[in-house]
Amino acid sequence: MDEAIRGFYFNTMYNLLKGKKGIIFGALDPNSIAWQTAERVHQEGGIFVLTNVPAAMRLGSIDVLAKTTGAQVIAADATSVDDLEHLVDQAMEVLGGKIDFVLHSIGMSVNVRKGRHYTDQDYDFTQKGWEVSALSFHKVLQVLYKKKAMNPWGSIVALSYMAAQRVFPDYNDMADNKAYLESVARSFGYFFGKEQQVRVNTISQSPTPTRAGSGVKGFDEFIAFAEKMAPLGNASALDCANYIVVMFSDLTRKITLQNLYSDGGFSNIGVSQEVMKMFEKQ
Ligand code: NAI
Repeated sequence: MDEAIRGFYFNTMYNLLKGKKGIIFGALDPNSIAWQTAERVHQEGGIFVLTNVPAAMRLGSIDVLAKTTGAQVIAADATSVDDLEHLVDQAMEVLGGKIDFVLHSIGMSVNVRKGRHYTDQDYDFTQKGWEVSALSFHKVLQVLYKKKAMNPWGSIVALSYMAAQRVFPDYNDMADNKAYLESVARSFGYFFGKEQQVRVNTISQSPTPTRAGSGVKGFDEFIAFAEKMAPLGNASALDCANYIVVMFSDLTRKITLQNLYSDGGFSNIGVSQEVMKMFEKQ
């Protein structure tokens, strides 16, 4: 990202999340969307617990982020209801009360990792990827809901990708996982809204160079293509973090059950002039 723009974002603070408490899943390294979100939430006055699987904590540098944001780290595998229950109890204790915001920023496809084509899936891999990337969101919501752990007007966001609506052949089984994830946001969001006045949304983000993103075949070419298609260019991890901050804030209290695009306009483009030029006869 252009340093001047980065400087603008980082020097502009609005105290949008002053007094709000939350849980942020999925910060692995400084490229992670969750990492950038944690930094922005901290700047906006929010306090939070960071969580990830123990293996990711060993591999990544979450302790560095914890230090700079004054957050406590609590390990949890988001596929384990026991872990999630412990996490939510601990988070409320550490933060001193109920929770206002939660970011689910978790994704992993074993088929992608092992190079299995969409038409040749190993269904044990499919199951594992679905549990991590999609069902885990239902589990997070159900644990929060049953414990009545969210404050009224709280906000829960999960991250998605447009392959939930349109075909991106190399996105593999993650496309199906994202479709499920978005459906869970709507279905659970109904009950969370009706009964606890809590918002549930997904943000559908541009391709972003992170550990999870870079695992997708042809990622570099795809990110360059999306950049040429989107009138505003791809949304960066920081752009996504800023959107998440707004969704956690009181400025979006009546927004729920939505899948919201953070993609520079890509999702509504048929073709751009830049891409057309690439096919002009020499
Ligand atoms: P990332 O690799 O930095 O984050 C993925 C996180 O999921 C890691 O921190 C990992 O440790 C965590 N995770 C994996 N298994 C877990 C489990 N069982 N329990 C708890 N955490 C677990 O990558 P990124 O890109 O920041 O991914 C965050 C979210 O954004 C994912 O849902 C991803 O699908 C989504 N997204 C990413 C895009 C991209 O191009 N990078 C585009 C659109 C959405």
